[in-house]
This record gives sequence, structure tokens and C-alpha cells, in this order.
Amino acid sequence: MQQDTVYFDETRQAVMILDQTLLPNEVRYLSLTDARQLWDAIYLLQVRGAPAIGVTAALGMYMLALRSEATELDAFVRDFHEQKDYLNSSRPTAVNLSWALNRMEAALQRALQEWDMSHQNVNHTDEKAAAWRAFLADALKQEADTIYREDIEVCRRIGEHGLSLLKDGYGVLTHCNAGRLATVRYGTATAPLYLAHEQGMTLHVYCDETRPLLQGARLTAYELQAAGIDTTLICDNMSASIMQTGKIHAVFVGCDRVAANGDTANKIGTAVVAAVAKKYHVPFYVCAPTSTIDAATPTGAEIVIEQRKESEVTTMWYEKRMAPEGIHVYNPAFDVTSHEDITAIITEDGIVRPPYHFS
Ligand code: MRU
Repeated sequence: MQQDTVYFDETRQAVMILDQTLLPNEVRYLSLTDARQLWDAIYLLQVRGAPAIGVTAALGMYMLALRSEATELDAFVRDFHEQKDYLNSSRPTAVNLSWALNRMEAALQRALQEWDMSHQNVNHTDEKAAAWRAFLADALKQEADTIYREDIEVCRRIGEHGLSLLKDGYGVLTHCNAGRLATVRYGTATAPLYLAHEQGMTLHVYCDETRPLLQGARLTAYELQAAGIDTTLICDNMSASIMQTGKIHAVFVGCDRVAANGDTANKIGTAVVAAVAKKYHVPFYVCAPTSTIDAATPTGAEIVIEQRKESEVTTMWYEKRMAPEGIHVYNPAFDVTSHEDITAIITEDGIVRPPYHFS
């Protein structure tokens, strides 16, 4: 847990990701050097969590530009757009993916204009190709680095705002993994927990195992335990039971997309936790970098929910199949929590409270 979840290795010209499918049993970094590897790593959840996906895509676009062998400027730009669309198709729900790719596209447009202005009378011969490729790759590197550094800073600030909502001795419930593994470094929902721990506060964190891919059991439990935070793993269907005991004082979760009215898509099961929290008067906080707020999507009903393979429910993680052959399986990766069930949304710019369409 010393190294960032995602980073760029200039010597290898590769995007490096901590392979999250192997955790907690093995810590191994993967070196991604082409578009197919990037797409697979995102789709297979080797890298996952909305902010980490966005950073991977940004570093990936830089890596592809750096490795480009295009000799014509038009071909370079065409490849860029094809690769951008391809990566964008890997997962639909987390808005950070398209957000980061659009930022990289805007950076390319600016760099192309700059290049055009200073090289108007130069014809783009083969000898010149190395020069414009280096110029454009450098512009993309700067933008990807900015996205990467911003992620670290944004999570730290979410942590500072979220800390103001915690008290010594609190029991906190979290769902899925919105931890450092879902971002470059601190996490979103875990950032306040890490800060509280650093400041000597005692917290008891309960993490839902998060069926079907067990991000809570495999990832959140692992990273909080590694940080020395008192952590208890519970099954997804225990949220009502634990809240009835009075042990939970706040719920902190991350999110993949916040609609303009405050409806929030996050890992499947989040909406249940929010409804239960409301019933037992436990505040339910969503931690969201502003990059996850999608003002162009009016409500949660318009958020595209990723559907995943049946095998994740029937066989994956089991020694033998745990459902009858041929059974129908419904496996949406996310659900939408109504804005009415969200006490506040914690962003890097402050804590946002209802009415969300205004705040
Ligand atoms: O399918 P995943 O593991 O990518 O889902 C991740 C989540 O739902 C996280 O809570 C969300 O991306 C926020 S990460 C800071």
C-alpha cells in the first residue's frame, strides 16, 4: 500500500495499475501498454472506482500518444479519437471516465491550435512527424499529470470536509470500496476516516462485503485494516441489523455519477443502505469529487446502469456453481439512491445539502 493505485512509468512508457482482482491475497502491478489492455483492465475491474478509472484513461491517452507511430497528423488525430471512444465504451456508469477523456480531447485541441499557429508554413513531412508527435504527447502528458495530481488533492479536501462530520467513538458504515484503491491515493469515502485516524480519533468502521464482486470484503476491509483502523466486515443484508443496535452513527459512501437533482448512482446495494439509514435516523453521506457531478443528467432515472455477466453471481468466487444451471440472473452493477435519502454530499469544495438542484 506504499505505491499509488495508478501511476505512469516513463521508462516503460506504461500505465501501471495495482491489479485489484488479486487483492487481498496478492499485491501485483500490471503494466498497460496498449488500448486493448487499458480497456480490459477497466472492464475486468483490475482498476476500478470512478476516480481511478478516470485517471487510468487520462494516463492511457497520453501513453497511446507517446507510443504513436503515426507519420501524418490527420492519422494521429483520427487514432486519438478512435482510442478515446473505445476506452469510453469500457464502462458506462462512472462519469469520471468520459470526463477525463473529454479533458484529454480538449487538451489535444488546444495543442493542435498552438502547433498550427507556430508552424503554418511547414509541411508535415516524415521528418517533422517526430517533432509534432513529441509536442502533442507533451501537451497530453501535462493534462494527464494535472488530472492525476488533482485527484490526490480533491480526495484530501473531501477528507477535510468529511472530518467535520465525525466524532470520537463513532461507528461508520461504508459500502463497496470508495477507498484509496478507488482513487490515486486517499479515497473519497475513506479520506475522512483516514484523517480522523491520523488525528487519533477512535472509529469503528463496518464494511459491507458488497456482492457480487466483494469490493468491501476484498478491498475496503484490506486497506482499512492495513491502515490500522478498527474494521469489521459484515454481509450486505446486515445493514438493518447493525443499525438497530445503535452502533452506526453515520454512513459514508462514494459514487459513480451524481445527477443534477442529487440522485446518485453507486455500487449495487447502496440504495438499500440509504433507505435503511433513513429509517433508523442515521445520516447518509455521499462523498463526490465535483468531477462525478453530472449536471447534464437531470435525474437518476437517466443514468445508464452497467449490467454485468451472470457468472459474477452464480459461479465467481465459489468452488462450485451456487445456482441451478439455466437460472435467470439480474446483475446490475449500480443502483440509484434517491436524493431524498441523502443527508449531504461531500465535495472538495464543501458540504452540499438539499435542495441539491440549487446547492
Ligand atoms: O464497480 P466498481 O468497483 O468500480 O464500483 C465502484 C463504486 O461503486 C465506488 O463506490 C465508486 O466508484 C466511488 S469510488 C471513489
